[in-house]
Order: sequence, then C-alpha cells, then structure tokens
Amino acid sequence: MLRVDNLTVCYGQMQALRGVSMEVSQGEMVALIGGNGAGKTTLLNTISGLIPPAGGSLSWEGRPLNGLAPDMICREGIVQVPEGRKLFPAMTVEENLIMGAYLPTVRKQSQESLRKVYDIFPRLADRRHQLAGSMSGGEQQMAALGRALMARPRLLMLDEPSLGLSPKAAAEIFATIRVLNKEGLSVLLVSQEVLETLAITAHGYVLENGVVAMRGPSSELREDPKVKKSYLGL
Ligand SMILES: Nc1ncnc2c1ncn2[C@@H]1O[C@H](COP(=O)(O)OP(=O)(O)O)[C@@H](O)[C@H]1O
Ligand SMILES: [Mg+2]
Repeated sequence: MLRVDNLTVCYGQMQALRGVSMEVSQGEMVALIGGNGAGKTTLLNTISGLIPPAGGSLSWEGRPLNGLAPDMICREGIVQVPEGRKLFPAMTVEENLIMGAYLPTVRKQSQESLRKVYDIFPRLADRRHQLAGSMSGGEQQMAALGRALMARPRLLMLDEPSLGLSPKAAAEIFATIRVLNKEGLSVLLVSQEVLETLAITAHGYVLENGVVAMRGPSSELREDPKVKKSYLGL
C-alpha cells in the first residue's frame, strides 16, 4: 500500500534520513520506534509531503507520491496526526474537527464524519463547544485524532499520540487506535511507548540516527535483546 524506498532527507547539510526503506500493507498496523532525534517525525512529514526528499522514492498503491503537495497526499487518504496535536487552541472542538474535512473530496460528508467521530469519542461530543486549548491533554489528543478521521483516512499516521498523557488517557487512545485498525484502517504508529506499541502492531521498524536499524514482526522485536536494552529498559 505505502512503500518507502531508500529515502534520504536532509536539513541543510544534515542528513536526517539515510536510505530508509519500509512499507505498510493494507489493513496493517505498523510500529515505528526509535529514540529522540532518530528521524521518526521527519519520515512522517516526508510521507505527508511536508518535506521534499533528497533521494529515494515514495509510492502509494503502486503510484509515485514524490512531488505531490500535502493536500494531494491527504486527498489520497494519507493523513497524519502531528506530534504535539497542533490543534487551534482558540477554536472550539467542533471547529477543529470541521477543519479536518476541508478538502472538497470529503467536505460533503463532514456531518456524517462528525457523527462518527462523536460516536468514537463521546467526550468530544460533550465538549463540542468548548475551546480546544482549554481541554486536558487526553481530550486534545482525541480531538487531534478526530480531526484526522474527518479527512477519511485510509492510512493514518500517528506521531507520539500518547506523549504527555496520563497512563489512563494514553491507554484510551491506544485502545481507540486498535479499534480503528480492527475496522480496517491502516496505521503507522510512532511512539516511545515501545512495549505498548509493539504489543498492538503486527510489524515494526526501529529507526536509529536516520537509518532502519531493525525491522520485523513486533512480537520478535519485543523479545530482541537490543530492543529490550535500548527501548524497554530491561
Ligand atoms: N526543521 C528542522 N531543521 C533542522 N534539523 C531538524 C529539523 N527537524 C528535525 N531536525 C533534526 O533531524 C533529526 C531527526 O529529527 P526528528 O525527525 O524530529 O526525530 P524524532 O521524531 O525521531 O525525534 C534530529 O537530529 C533533529 O534535530
Ligand atoms: Mg518526533
């Protein structure tokens, strides 16, 4: 479905990704783990079309994605929930959600999408008229995830969705992601909650200093001595 081939990305002289290859198959949930500065956000931003690659290729259902603008990539069904949620704090929850459906291809369905998001997150329905910036971190993450769902994704890319959340709020978010995947949504999950992430994904990639250091079934990565030592503190 999504295929990343030998991708290189630079910030000026600095190579943030060096020959990264990975893929996400239809309906699969894939983990992307790695320490701070490994290049996880850079990879998601490049897939989303926010950063032009210096080399390598990206393809989606066999067609090249290279050079497409972010709105075109979103229109293809590849939707990112950004690190730090990036809500509009002075807008209400519902206004933020509606922003997710701004593309003409999904705008007509926005009322139906809104009902679906409120079904998934009843708490957002209760708070629809509240300013997004006044909510708890967990509720803001629900809103960020809800806004992405408004764009009718086929591949959802989540960047550190549990960062800064209480364990209870994080567990709720992970449970929801899992349900969405069970319903058929393909997911690329970036998280530093390594144990949890490897428990709910099928495959995983470990990114270190801009290269894929390890890849494999999540169950195997979880047992890998190096993963245990570096990421699970065991
Ligand atoms: N906008 C930017 N300009 C310059 N360097 C950046 C920028 N964004 C990230 N970097 C650098 O690229 C590397 C990868 O960063 P990032 O993709 O944010 O890693 P991660 O999400 O895994 O923590 C880091 O060394 C970071 O300092
Ligand atoms: Mg990051």
